[in-house]
Parts: sequence; C-alpha cells; structure tokens
Amino acid sequence: MKGTKNVSKKHIAVYITGGIAVYKAAQVVRSFIKAGFEVKVAMTSAAQKFVTAQTFEVLSTHHVYTDHVPTEDQEFVPHIALADWTDIAVVVPATANILAKMANGLADDFVSTAILATRAPKFVIPAMNENMWQQVSTQRNVHTLKDDGVSVMFPATGFLAEGYSGRGRMPEPEEIFHWISEKITVKQDLAGVNLLISAGPTVEEIDPVRYLTNHSSGKMGYALAQKAADRGANVTLVSGPTQLSKPSGVAVIDIISAKELQQKVKEKFEQNDVVIMAAAVSDFHVKQIAKQKIKKNGQSMHLDLVANPDILADLGHIKTHQKLVGFAAETQNLIENGNKKLVKKNLDMLVLNDVSRKDIGFNAADNEVRLLRPKKEPKLIAKTSKDKIADEILDELTSL
Ligand SMILES: Cc1cc2nc3c(=O)[nH]c(=O)nc-3n(C[C@H](O)[C@H](O)[C@H](O)COP(=O)(O)O)c2cc1C
Repeated sequence: MKGTKNVSKKHIAVYITGGIAVYKAAQVVRSFIKAGFEVKVAMTSAAQKFVTAQTFEVLSTHHVYTDHVPTEDQEFVPHIALADWTDIAVVVPATANILAKMANGLADDFVSTAILATRAPKFVIPAMNENMWQQVSTQRNVHTLKDDGVSVMFPATGFLAEGYSGRGRMPEPEEIFHWISEKITVKQDLAGVNLLISAGPTVEEIDPVRYLTNHSSGKMGYALAQKAADRGANVTLVSGPTQLSKPSGVAVIDIISAKELQQKVKEKFEQNDVVIMAAAVSDFHVKQIAKQKIKKNGQSMHLDLVANPDILADLGHIKTHQKLVGFAAETQNLIENGNKKLVKKNLDMLVLNDVSRKDIGFNAADNEVRLLRPKKEPKLIAKTSKDKIADEILDELTSL
C-alpha cells in the first residue's frame, strides 16, 4: 500500500432538491470543501423554498445555479458548463421527484438537465417520507438508477419530519461524506509500476474494403488500463480499433493488425514490469492482401490464411523480470484448456472468459472470469462490472 489519493477528482457538483433535509446539505458541502474539493451547487425551485441559495453561495464561494442563466464568466450554456466541469455529481437530498426524473432521463429544469448532461459518476442520497420511499414506483426508479451505474445511498430509519419514526430519513452529513469519500478514494498500490496492456481486436486486411476481425469491444482491457492508472501505475495501452474513449492518464498506441501489435508490444516489453495481453488477437492473416477489391467470382471463394505469431507465448519465453498476464476466451473445458495455456505460454496469470455465455464477455458491460495461476486453485470472480473485475485482477497481481 503506497497511500491513497482522490484521483484528480477535485470538482464536485452538488445538486440540491426540495426535501425537508435540505438544511443538512449545507454541512455536506462544508465537509467536501474542508477536504479540499471545489464545490459548485445547483438548486431546484423547491429546494430554494427550504433554504436560500445564499447559504450555499457563501459556503462554496461560487454562484449557485438555479436556472439557465450563466453564473460564471464565459459560460454560454450553463448546464453543459457545469456538467463538463464536474468530476463527481452528488444529489443531496434527492427527492422522490428527482429520482423519477433521473431514472427516466427527464430534463425539465436546470438541475435535471445538468445531471442528464453529466458523464461523471453520480451519487444520490434519497430522503423522503417512508411511504414515498417504499412506493413501488420509487423502488423501481432506485433499481433503474443502480442498474444505470448510479450509486444510491440507502436512507436511514429514524425520526422523520412527519413526527414519527420510519425509513426515509437522510443519513447524517458525516456518514454521507464518508460513504462518498470511500468510493472515490483510490489506493495507490501500483505507484511506480510500469504496466503495458493490449486491448481490443486486431484487424487483418483482405483487400482495400474487406477485413477479418472479431467481436472484442476492448472494454475489459480499457477498464484495466484506467484502473491501473488510477492506482498509480504508468500505463501504456496498445489498442486495436474500438469505439471507446481513451482512458485518462494513459499513453495510448493505436494499432490495426496483429503484426503491428506484436511490434509495439515487443518494443515496450523490456521497460515494463507488468504486461497484460487482453487484446483479442486474430489467429490468422491473409497470405497476400489483394491490392484491388476482390471480384465476386462464382458461389464460393478461397482465402489463403497464415497463422499469426503467438505473441503471448513469445513474451512468455523471453520474459525476465516481467509478470505476464494473458486472457483466454474459451467455449468448453475452460479450466483444462486454460491450464494448458498457462503452462505452455509461461504465464503468471491467465484470465479465463467463458465466451459461450451471452450475458458476459464480448461487448457486454459485465463479465465473469476465472483467474488461473501456477500451482494455485482457480479463482472465480463472479459476474460483475468490468470495472470491478479489473480491480480484482489488479488486486491479484499485487499479491503475485
Ligand atoms: C414541507 C415539504 C416537505 C417535503 N419534503 C420532501 C422530502 O423530504 N422528500 C421528497 O422527496 N419530497 C418532499 N417534498 C415534496 C417535494 O418538495 C416536491 O415533490 C417537489 O416537487 C420536488 O421538486 P424537486 O425534486 O424539483 O426539488 C416536500 C414538500 C413539502 C411542501
């Protein structure tokens, strides 16, 4: 463990909606500011009936967004300016109304519009009457938000403003601060580690318009690259063509074919301590790429394919100080086939994907993998998001 840090997540947008617990939001804003975050606040009209915007203006030292009028210099479209500025969005307290709007993508005032425009992680702290909280529609909205990747803090049970005890009470500001801090604080256990990772598919040209490739989206490799960088590693990502945005704080080298991948990985191999080969490398390339588009000629055609080099196995045999991790996609006899690869390619870890399942793996947001390590029992990481799998793989790596 080499300390922790809030990975460049310094800007918090606090959205305040109209519940009786608004008064507690002032304390939450104060805790963030004391912890070194810069905070900007937006309030709904209902929220302003409970506490004035001035309270939050004084606390945050920024104008409070209440409508679509610019509050800062050079803000042409304020809801987009706030959304783009945001590293973390917090809705506190969150009314039943804003939960419903967020769950359905509604954008009919400043707060809901800015939240919809925000790509940053969202933290929501509902507070309401117990019956409102337990209403099927509210619970359905909470489920939807969780499925959408929003972190929702479960309300506390206690004395409600209505004069009786029940679930729906907003947790205390310190609890809210700790709940969010824990989620955004990242251990720096990979500080100083040079990590090379390949991701995405490779593409092998057939002629000027056609190519051979596979279903790899690159999501797993990109998640690993981002998580490793967040945890302090110096990450180089060698990436095949994907639709994903580049991970932040990562040096990205774009490649197309297996041959280019091999060349770049070999170039960078010596200077890295950990090498993770998550790219789905085409096993074959065409022997002769046609210079002109191949004409349709009859009912069948023959492509002369030549095996690509087994990059992972080559690295396994030349490695010195590096920890080498491979990925394997299998459809049957997972463990048996995986263990053979682990030994044959001289790997320190093999991440095994069952690509026969449609709910995980290629292109899906979730995955379920087994980690194979020499002389150890296989370790199952049960179905979860690729981000969580990435963290678990890195945890396992640090223990090697
Ligand atoms: C006195 C009073 C207290 C309220 N407390 C809450 C509350 O704690 N939680 C909630 O979800 N709604 C509460 N409401 C209802 C919301 O203010 C109402 O649904 C409003 O439309 C929410 O708008 P907003 O989500 O844009 O802020 C309360 C209303 C009043 C008049």
